[in-house]
Amino acid sequence: MTRLKELASTHRHMSELEPIGVIDIGSNSVRLVVYEGAVRSPTPLFNEKVLCGLGRSVATSGSLAPDAVERAIHALRRFRTIAHVLGVKTVIAIATAAVREAKNGPEFLKRGEEAAGCRIEVLSGETEARLAAQGIMMGFVDANGIAGDLGGGSLELIDLAGGKLKDAVTLPLGGLRLIDTTGNKLEKAVDIIDAAVSGVPWIKKAQGRAFYAVGGTWRSLAKLHMESINYPLRVMQGYSIAPRTALEFCEQIRRAKKSQAFPGIAGVARARREVLPYGALVLERLLRQLQPTAVIFSVFGIREGLIYGLLSEFEKARDPLLSFCEDYAAMRSRSIEHAHELCRWTDQIFTNPELAETPDERRLRHAACLLSDVGWRAHPDYRGEQSLNAIAHAGLGGVDHPGRICLALAVYHRHELSEGGGNGLSERLRALVSRRAQKRARIIGSAIRTAHMLSIGMAGVIDDTPLSYSGEKLVLTIPKVYAGLDGERLRRRFEQLATLVGKTAAIKLLH
Ligand code: LMR
Ligand code: MG
Repeated sequence: MTRLKELASTHRHMSELEPIGVIDIGSNSVRLVVYEGAVRSPTPLFNEKVLCGLGRSVATSGSLAPDAVERAIHALRRFRTIAHVLGVKTVIAIATAAVREAKNGPEFLKRGEEAAGCRIEVLSGETEARLAAQGIMMGFVDANGIAGDLGGGSLELIDLAGGKLKDAVTLPLGGLRLIDTTGNKLEKAVDIIDAAVSGVPWIKKAQGRAFYAVGGTWRSLAKLHMESINYPLRVMQGYSIAPRTALEFCEQIRRAKKSQAFPGIAGVARARREVLPYGALVLERLLRQLQPTAVIFSVFGIREGLIYGLLSEFEKARDPLLSFCEDYAAMRSRSIEHAHELCRWTDQIFTNPELAETPDERRLRHAACLLSDVGWRAHPDYRGEQSLNAIAHAGLGGVDHPGRICLALAVYHRHELSEGGGNGLSERLRALVSRRAQKRARIIGSAIRTAHMLSIGMAGVIDDTPLSYSGEKLVLTIPKVYAGLDGERLRRRFEQLATLVGKTAAIKLLH
């Protein structure tokens, strides 16, 4: 395919997608997210929330509070107009615990549907849990562990194994609900939480597995934790902390209840701050009973779960990381075909038993090849930094933070030989991954640098300039038609690559 044809097809791919709006009328927040379409790794085109607090008084008064209702109706009206402005034809609106339980729920729904301009489906606790499970499946490959989705009204607990939902339960432990039922006495919430959680018959199955934390309140908690350790990434998806650390941090948050001085608290919405100690307490009590191996935060929840439900079986089975990278590369790089060639070309380097890679490492390498050209439009001096920043903070699913950092470093090294010393982002990120991963990132980056000396960024060349090993040599074979590309720059880059893999460089020109 010529580059122009390819660009046109890229364009077609993007315009074929039909944006989908999801309105989530939760007990804390009312939110609109517009996704680019029903694909395996959909990028949100728009995202706005209003903390309405619909669930504030449902437990004690039985009703949605009038001021919360007005705020929600107002938000829905705005969302309807936003969807119109964005040309979103499909809007799916759902409501959860607060609307489900309040006696004036039906009345609210009538007004809400008029304001939003679409039907609003009230989810049962069971459906809410199933959607949260699907949200985890959207963001993680083969999720295994217990997921908890903490809202303002309820907490859904879900047992996931082999990427499938095994068990689920909904408990009345949402942050606003606990404030309501305890009369805002945090100490009183302990027994309520413990009783509800220990009543879940399968809860002991959590031991020795991961805990996935979903929901706005826990996301705020993770944000504060990142702030407290000066974490270099601003990415919530896949942020993982050790259970002990999480426990201690939850204790700190809950004790700091009255203090507005908690570091980073300014970044947490005011309306969220009051539920934060309750969210921390729920997590703390859960962790004590669950004893998981890690606490992993997920930004993917019921909204993404809804999109997941719209996917074909084929799309569901796709790798979320690789499909994201393909879409991103199709939009941002010069040739997606060349990106695929790089995957194959670099495969040959890793046939060396000394460089044997795990399936996950191989997958990351392919993702790095797919993303390797996304920085091409930047000023040459900044391509490395810009690629690093864009990839490290991209909306990637299906990858943990060390994996994400390896990807970013590999593409950084595709542009930059140096480690980028001082206090730069590359240096701070490097500190979070193993030496092995750093070395791999250098090799991958160096290989792509070499390949570009032959391909000039174009598809159709490097399949014909294969790499192979011959004893202590790494051999690059160049057919006659491309012999003119041989020269100092190619040799320099190729020698760097050979040195990195512990071999000497040999170029074989075919006649
Ligand atoms: C809710 O209940 O509103 C949650 O699902 C989302 C949030 O913002 O806490
Ligand atoms: Mg919710």
